Amino acid sequence: MKAIIPAAGQGTRFLPASKAVPKEMLPVLDKPMIQYVVEEALAADAREVIIILSDDKPEIAAHFSPSPDLVRSLEHKGSTTLAQSVRHAGALPVSFVRQPQPLGLGNAVYQAEDFVCGATEGFFVLLGDVLVPDNRLLRRMREVSAAQGNASVLAVIRVPDEDVSRFGIVDVELIGGSEQDGTAVWQINALVEKPLPEEAPSNLAIFGRYLLTPRVMEILAHTGPGAGGEIQLTDALEELLASEPLYAIEVGADEGLDCGTVADWLSTNIKLAARDAELSKVVSAACDRIF
Ligand code: UTP
Repeated sequence: MKAIIPAAGQGTRFLPASKAVPKEMLPVLDKPMIQYVVEEALAADAREVIIILSDDKPEIAAHFSPSPDLVRSLEHKGSTTLAQSVRHAGALPVSFVRQPQPLGLGNAVYQAEDFVCGATEGFFVLLGDVLVPDNRLLRRMREVSAAQGNASVLAVIRVPDEDVSRFGIVDVELIGGSEQDGTAVWQINALVEKPLPEEAPSNLAIFGRYLLTPRVMEILAHTGPGAGGEIQLTDALEELLASEPLYAIEVGADEGLDCGTVADWLSTNIKLAARDAELSKVVSAACDRIF
């Protein structure tokens, strides 16, 4: 299964930090956030990873290119661990496709049409500013898709009622598993982009991991601008729902980590640092001194 990682957005919610550095290149602990996303796709055995880039983000392609001089210099200094980390980033098997203008997520995904055209199997879409570091979600999505006749599956996360109008929200019916232990499998009845809290059909928000059938590309070929004047992937999924069933599984609050805003990125850094033996001591000491 191929994986598409859209990373050609403007990152306006991260300005001014994202003025000259793509949001997806900002570090989460010791790596740029997009490296986690590439590694997640590869951990799920993605056969090919395609990053959607804009012309003004050459740093992303540079990060995934070999740096033999830097590796040699680090090895010469005896910094073998650092040399290995640089070699690893430059050897990750990714390819790049350009999005000429940031017209929206749906338009970004559509740029990879040639890669899935004619395919019978589905493809993954992983947003470049959302992390799922434990790497289990994509495999679960593939299992649910296979059990439902290779249908499309979305990841959803529970958000507070007052936040529903920031997200695409799904109207669902439980068809398997349990909501209590996070194993629920839902069939999606409808998708609503950024509903008013009183009109939201649930508090399950589309989270940034999708397993989609190739038919989505046919729909994206004619999807026009929607919310915010952008070509929305959610609008294409709504149209898909008219001809194919769509399913959803839940990403746990500790499993799915957003990095799209400064506040979310900060929270993600603290959560991941708390899971690291050394960095957790640093966070704990800093908090003890401050609070
Ligand atoms: P976001 O809406 O979170 O990112 O899109 P953004 O548009 O860069 O950020 P804001 O809203 O201006 O702050 C989710 C992912 O989709 C990519 C983004 O790069 C991000 O990783 N994206 C979005 C594209 O590749 N192209 C687009 O036209 C829009």
